[in-house]
Amino acid sequence: MSPSFVSPWAVYQALRQRTLKLTEALSAEDQAVQSMPNASPAKWHLAHTTWFFEAVVLTAHAKGYQVFDLAFHYLFNSYYESLGERQPRDQRGLLTRPSLTQIHAYRAHVDAAMEKWLNTDGPSADAVSLFELGLHHEQQHQELLVTDMLHALSRNPLLPDWGLKLIPQTASESLTTSANTDAAISTGWRHFAGGVVAVGHGGEGFAFDNETPRHQVLLRPYALADRLVSCGEYLAFMLAGAYERPEYWLSEGWSRVKSEGWTQPIYWHAADDGDEKDWQVFGLQGLQKLDPEAPVTHLSFFEAAAFAAWAGARLPTEFEWENAAALAPDLPQLFGAAWQWTRSSYDPYPGFAPLSGAVAEYNGKFMVGQLVLRGSSAYTPTEPMPHARISYRNFFSADSRWQCTGLRLAKDSMQ
Ligand SMILES: [Fe+2]
Repeated sequence: MSPSFVSPWAVYQALRQRTLKLTEALSAEDQAVQSMPNASPAKWHLAHTTWFFEAVVLTAHAKGYQVFDLAFHYLFNSYYESLGERQPRDQRGLLTRPSLTQIHAYRAHVDAAMEKWLNTDGPSADAVSLFELGLHHEQQHQELLVTDMLHALSRNPLLPDWGLKLIPQTASESLTTSANTDAAISTGWRHFAGGVVAVGHGGEGFAFDNETPRHQVLLRPYALADRLVSCGEYLAFMLAGAYERPEYWLSEGWSRVKSEGWTQPIYWHAADDGDEKDWQVFGLQGLQKLDPEAPVTHLSFFEAAAFAAWAGARLPTEFEWENAAALAPDLPQLFGAAWQWTRSSYDPYPGFAPLSGAVAEYNGKFMVGQLVLRGSSAYTPTEPMPHARISYRNFFSADSRWQCTGLRLAKDSMQ
């Protein structure tokens, strides 16, 4: 058992309670809604994370474990072909049965079995790795639960205030919580020499298979902005005709602007009186006046790339981001504000090998047609164990707008 899991049951319990806590202010009706094919109901997240521990850990490794309800293996399997048929992803909102109460009972059943398995039976080393994967898997779903539910609430004409206090840090807040409290806020660039640098996870501690193996890449000298793009800056782009100027957009992005009728970021609202200067942004506290200092979030890759083109810059590659994060850990807003789009396709690293068994399907089969995001967002859990790290690779398709995603500008450096 790794040193980070001196008390695996305590970590497990804290993590599971945090998931439930996220749903405390939601009604059963809220938790059943699926607002689009890509977003799952909160209730489904509660059950699916439980199914993962049941199907991947307990069924295979806990002697005498009694499955709660076999039908749940069809209902709450996400995408594991090797673990059987499943409810279609775009029809998860049809699962008004089982009730939320039954799903809470499912969680309690699996939690009791996990307690016995961890504290009495004593898991093998292989099983501990799957247990640890289950913890990080549930943390990923904690963030998805927030973004999926926020999207559902955004489609409700009442634009309700969920009340979750997960707010993206501004650059100045990021500085006051970092070790470098004397640094002034600047809008400048940090220069990096590049060269042959090592990237990927190679050390101790947990990492997903997609972060390995550690390997070398060649970087030209480059510079990264010392903070994320703010809402105020994105507003300036809007006022410069952002969504009406094809020259800033990738062809596919411009097609999406036209076909979807994009005129602003997904959660931005012009004030009722039609005054375009008085923007509001929908978030976890309902509709709030746009804060020009706050990082702009919930942007697609297409919008991020268009902004960068307008600003005369570009998006960083994932390896520039990781190299900068390794060399300059005091760089504001690396973590805890918004996931940062990179210009890198989500591809396997040289020598990549998926995990074995059912969890071979965890990451590898999604390595086509998606872009890598680096850092972490305000919605990314930090307790009971850290979730993000500098080698972490998040990924979404280029048109995804419902995640807490923003951007940090990059450019070539003359250094
Ligand atoms: Fe999952």
